Amino acid sequence: MKSKALIELLSDGQVHSGEALAEKLGVSRTAIWKQARRAMDDGVEIATIRGRGYQLMSRIDLLDRGMILDSLASARKEQIVLKVFDEVDSTNAEVVRLMAHGVNGVPVVIADGQTSGRGRRGRVWQSPRGENLYLSMGLTFHGGFAVLDGLSLVLGVAVANALERLGVPEVGLKWPNDIFQPDGKLGGILVELQGELEEGVVQVIAGIGLNVHMSQADHVDQPWSSLVGACPGIAWSRNQIASSIIDAVIDAVSLFSDVGFADFREPWQRRDIFMGKLLQSRGGDVQGVGCGIDETGNYQIRTQTGIVPVRAGEISLRVMP
Ligand code: BTN
Repeated sequence: MKSKALIELLSDGQVHSGEALAEKLGVSRTAIWKQARRAMDDGVEIATIRGRGYQLMSRIDLLDRGMILDSLASARKEQIVLKVFDEVDSTNAEVVRLMAHGVNGVPVVIADGQTSGRGRRGRVWQSPRGENLYLSMGLTFHGGFAVLDGLSLVLGVAVANALERLGVPEVGLKWPNDIFQPDGKLGGILVELQGELEEGVVQVIAGIGLNVHMSQADHVDQPWSSLVGACPGIAWSRNQIASSIIDAVIDAVSLFSDVGFADFREPWQRRDIFMGKLLQSRGGDVQGVGCGIDETGNYQIRTQTGIVPVRAGEISLRVMP
């Protein structure tokens, strides 16, 4: 956002004179006026008060790399390489680029907006500027692709833990890893794999999209919700959510690398929104009642002929109308 520095100065909610703002930013008063207009065109509510100056009329939630790092423990800060962008094509794509250049730590990319945000199954992920969280992490595993069974669900548990710690009462999970609230989908996770670069070393890009302030969206083909809609009493800060998710994902991945999926089965299962529901696969070939996940994270459906396990990525499930 071109007027980010101006908005930062106004973010205390006080009235600031054009003169004082111009001096602080080292520009002319006309330039301040132009920046304020541009911000207003971008939807930021700024009041221009005759003879006194400018005042920000609504709370604004700017991304701030320093604030994200400040909320992390020092050991955690040293583990990650954090990049915060105004705009990228896709934070997942940016992590791939970082990893290709070599990076000393866990790459974490966050953007205020994405121009080609991608979702699962080749869908577009709506990524308006300033509204939501778009965060990707590059994770390295040893032991080949076989060790990744269940990882996608582990990431869902990590995000749910992070949100519950921030005060969301009950976070639901829709197999394999959609984040749910009673009103609809709150977020999603896109897991992309890089080939084995060396024997047994696998890189995974975990991209997390979470609706935070968004109040309207075109072309979203399913019910959705946002953190502000689900918990309006909380002053949501994308910086705080980001720190909490980074922490939770690194903790979860380290436990998963040490002991595998076993410790995540129960935390996933208790949030399962499909449990006991009549389900069908999108193609319609499997129908039955949802009965949770097995020990590797496959979803189990009780059909007329017995339990059918469904592998993540093979078919997608929905509640029957
Ligand atoms: C889904 O379809 O449910 C997964 C959506 C994942 C979206 C996130 S936003 C951050 C990261 N960058 C992307 O391009 N996609 C993921």
